[in-house]
Amino acid sequence: MQINRRFFSTLRWKIALAYLVVIGLGFLIINISIMEIFEKDMIKGKKMALQKYSIEVAQTISNMYNDDNPDVIFEIQDLGDDIARKEGEFTRILVLNNKGVVDYDSYNVVGPGSLLKRNLIRDVPEIQDVLKGYQIDAKDIYIPDRESNSFKRVMYAYAPITHDEEGIIGAVIISSSLSSIEKLLSRTRNMLNLYSAIISISIIIISFVISSFITQPINELTEGIQKMSQGHLDQRVNISGSEELRQLGQAFNIMSEKLENLDKARNEFVSNASHELKTPLSSMKILTESLLHMEVDDPAIYNDFLTDIDHEIDRLNAIITDLLALVHMDDGGVYIQKDDVAVKELILKSIKGLQILAEKRNIELTTTFDEEDLTIYGDEMKLQQVIINIVDNAIKYTPDGGKVWVEAYKGLNSAIIKVTDTGVGIPKEDIPKIFDRFFRVDKARSRATGGTGLGLSIAHRIVLLHDGNIHVTSKEGKGTTFYIELPLKE
Ligand SMILES: Nc1ncnc2c1ncn2[C@@H]1O[C@H](COP(=O)(O)OP(=O)(O)OP(=O)(O)O)[C@@H](O)[C@H]1O
Ligand SMILES: [Mg+2]
Repeated sequence: MQINRRFFSTLRWKIALAYLVVIGLGFLIINISIMEIFEKDMIKGKKMALQKYSIEVAQTISNMYNDDNPDVIFEIQDLGDDIARKEGEFTRILVLNNKGVVDYDSYNVVGPGSLLKRNLIRDVPEIQDVLKGYQIDAKDIYIPDRESNSFKRVMYAYAPITHDEEGIIGAVIISSSLSSIEKLLSRTRNMLNLYSAIISISIIIISFVISSFITQPINELTEGIQKMSQGHLDQRVNISGSEELRQLGQAFNIMSEKLENLDKARNEFVSNASHELKTPLSSMKILTESLLHMEVDDPAIYNDFLTDIDHEIDRLNAIITDLLALVHMDDGGVYIQKDDVAVKELILKSIKGLQILAEKRNIELTTTFDEEDLTIYGDEMKLQQVIINIVDNAIKYTPDGGKVWVEAYKGLNSAIIKVTDTGVGIPKEDIPKIFDRFFRVDKARSRATGGTGLGLSIAHRIVLLHDGNIHVTSKEGKGTTFYIELPLKE
């Protein structure tokens, strides 16, 4: 069933039909042209032959007719038979006097339908010209045929009967049926049509087979796409055939790989998010259960437990707020309100709150500005969030007594904010992952510092929304540098 449906697929029909139309039209034009040339040629030959015969007959009977010799009838009957034999057609010879009246008829018909003694000038106007000595071409016409109840094709040729002394004394009309030519023409036409049909059918069959080379890979692709839509994202196709089809196959494979990766990333994200949300919830559960089963009356202990619970609630809140911010940005739901932003002010505002944090840890936090009035075009609040995130990381992941410095300078078409620390550094293999959601180099350590692993993902998204870029260099145990590149105000 499946195979049948494929074998007769619409595309294959269309290809076969397209071939058929092109070839059928070609045959039609060729056949019509051949038949026309063939017919013209045959009729022309016939005309010339009959004209020649009419002149010969006129010459042969000229003297006899002039002498009123009644043997003219036998003569024209003999000549008529002769021509009929040579041409293979019924041939009739009429001898007319110089008034256009039929004197002799090789068919010698008597009774109704007889032409004897009939004046043909009115019926055959050419006779007048013939009797005046003009050369009149033979002509072929269709006349009604009483026997077959249709039309038959007949040719007429005319010649004057000229006598040496008397001049034009009459005319000869030879009429000849064209049935054998007609038969030959129709036989040829039928043969041409038959061959055209045979060739066309062969072409359809061949094109049907050939088209399988085209439709086969397309079918494979369709199957792949159908399976993907059912959720099997691991589909890859192995497409051979023409260059275009191979490219299509490659594009499909790239797309399905991306989709698969996306699906994996989504699953990972959901599982990470659940895990991150579950951790504070589990802590809270343990803390509340302990509180419920505790049999002490010391308010200080209750206070301790409640403070811990409060802490976990804060953490849950922080994760959810960050997640919502990210989802919002993914949806394109975040509206970036751009305005002129002075880089120096932006940095000073951002690190104001972090200065206390650094001091507590005995970390020296300094700033350097190459240019006083470097200005970018962006959303000040969002950019502050980026700088806070990155400087906060630098402080968080630098041991007490270390150094963090923030510099700003002009790049090619951008302002670059460089944040350097003398901290723990990031292992080389982890550098590409630090912008991933929930990624933390050392989970235990980050959790101790309150990190969720979302800070850099958010910062990265915000910078991308500004058509900017972030890159990182780091040496484990030595320190890390973040470069935030933001397009300058135009
Ligand atoms: N300056 C840095 N030095 C060393 N490691 C860093 C630095 N900045 C980031 N990291 C590593 O990258 C990870 C991801 O950073 P990110 O800011 O996204 O998360 P976090 O700081 O752990 O949590 P959050 O910022 O959400 O509170 C961190 O957990 C840390 O391991
Ligand atoms: Mg952080």
